[in-house]
Amino acid sequence: MASVPSLAATVHQRVANALSAALPEAGSADPLLRRSDRADFQANGLLALAKKLKGNPRELAAQVVGVLDGTAEGAERPADDVVQDVEVSGPGFLNITLSDQAIVRTLAARAADARLGVPYAEHPGTTVIDYAQPNVAKEMHVGHLRSAVIGDAVVRILEFSGEQVVRRHHIGDWGTQFGMLIQYLIEHPHELDHGGEGEVSGEEAMSNLGRLYKASRVLFDSDEEFKARSRDRVVALQAGDEETLALWQRFVDESKIYFYSVFDKLDMEIRDPDVVGESGYNDMLDETCRLLEESGVAVRSEGALCVFFDEFKGPDGKPTPLIVRKSNGGYGYAATDLSAIRDRVHNLKANTLLYVVDARQSLHFRMVFETARRAGWLGDDVRAEQLAFGTVLGKDGKPFKTREGETVRLVDLLDEAVDRAAVVVREKAQDLTEEEIAERAAQVGIGAIKYADLSTSAARDYKFDLDQMVSLNGDTSVYLQYAYARIQSILRKAGDTRPAAHPELTLAPAERALGLHLDQFAETLAEVAEAYEPHKLAAYLYQLASHYTTFYSECPVLKADSPAQVENRLFLCDLTARTLHQGMALLGIRTPERL
Ligand code: ARG
Repeated sequence: MASVPSLAATVHQRVANALSAALPEAGSADPLLRRSDRADFQANGLLALAKKLKGNPRELAAQVVGVLDGTAEGAERPADDVVQDVEVSGPGFLNITLSDQAIVRTLAARAADARLGVPYAEHPGTTVIDYAQPNVAKEMHVGHLRSAVIGDAVVRILEFSGEQVVRRHHIGDWGTQFGMLIQYLIEHPHELDHGGEGEVSGEEAMSNLGRLYKASRVLFDSDEEFKARSRDRVVALQAGDEETLALWQRFVDESKIYFYSVFDKLDMEIRDPDVVGESGYNDMLDETCRLLEESGVAVRSEGALCVFFDEFKGPDGKPTPLIVRKSNGGYGYAATDLSAIRDRVHNLKANTLLYVVDARQSLHFRMVFETARRAGWLGDDVRAEQLAFGTVLGKDGKPFKTREGETVRLVDLLDEAVDRAAVVVREKAQDLTEEEIAERAAQVGIGAIKYADLSTSAARDYKFDLDQMVSLNGDTSVYLQYAYARIQSILRKAGDTRPAAHPELTLAPAERALGLHLDQFAETLAEVAEAYEPHKLAAYLYQLASHYTTFYSECPVLKADSPAQVENRLFLCDLTARTLHQGMALLGIRTPERL
């Protein structure tokens, strides 16, 4: 089905046409239409126009009103006009009120579409998105939470808009620390054995890795000979020695068991072929460096291969170079990211490269992008952007740490959120079984964490406050989930009475407000997808739930005045629920049918 133009778009067109009919000398001026408290919409464009035409804004506005309401000569009002009333206000604004009929008709067209009238992007392309990138043999912490949650939402939003999305989980699976880990495993061969008792859990996998990491670290720091053997092991790993690689693979596999268990808890689908970590670019590193050196983009400096920039300086005022190859011949983070760009642009045919990564890595990405531009790997036709996110803070406003000053384990946070949610769900539960309470608690608890992360703009830091996150009042996912569940309960109670739009009815103010907000869904999504701003979708959904709450308290649904009004209100309920459900799904949050 073709997309349904929003009321806002229709009114915009109508006013723009009236403008050029009333004031042909104005050309195609923008009426500058926005939602307003006074009327449904306000057009402010006449002020600037009057200045340009050296006319009186109120007089010009009156001429436009004449065209809109059909009183001007030759003007004709369409039979099913969306505009019911228009008047001049203030210095020359137009206050525009829509007809109830137009509101209900437009919403009915939206409701008839499975996509709720949301069009596909006009020019979809291919976006490669780099997100959810934990590190092998290390615990996941809150920073990894943000990348995963924001990235997952952006993937869903872009895919819904019709964009081709390629996911890349650039996990940290390479580096000198593996020399130490592998060497330790060679010398303590049974440390990663699972005793043939079937699959290990994610928790066990991580605890094995953690134990091994600590033990090998201790040895590395205290035993010079072990340290030397570890260094040789790095060389063997980089040379592709088979035995060494096989042991490295065991660390990766064990870590994946753990990662997948965490992503599972997060109710997030991560697919194995999309996990292409740092090691995935090993074969390209030599060539990447050769090309950079040949083209003169990188130069040797004190034995290292570096790219210099005038614009990026360190705290000491000296230019900070991007080190592509260290003086000992080793490759680091930059070489991998540059190789990944080549792969993503040339092989994956990306038009957009998106990196959902901590803001503290911004300098790295600016240098990497600039280098890739100089090398010609990133042309003008490719957009490269870091969707940089801020830090998760504790209640004290400092970076989130345990009381002992350690980084907080992500799984502990998730488990605690689910426990808290269970309390909230149980309090309200009327006809839920224990099993249902547990299932809802996971949906509410994980939803709460995701929503708290997604409802502030990514760039900002936010405080991790579970009390606030699972609160029933305020801007939380639980509030939205309850609004949804309450609607479902009304729809169930309605029995055989089905939602149906009745454009002939007069709407109450709360119905109009709800309807006009529902009308904005597609436009909000387009904006959200364009600028990668899930927080604007969260804000939209929160306002939707708030409008619904007002509607619900002012407009009886099942006890409305007439059967037609019951159906029409059920229709508004149903469209609200579907919009909430769709919007929350795009944020990666569940909306249980009962709570
Ligand atoms: N693994 C890194 C970390 O934990 C994030 C990787 C970001 N992506 C990239 N292409 N550099 O900080």
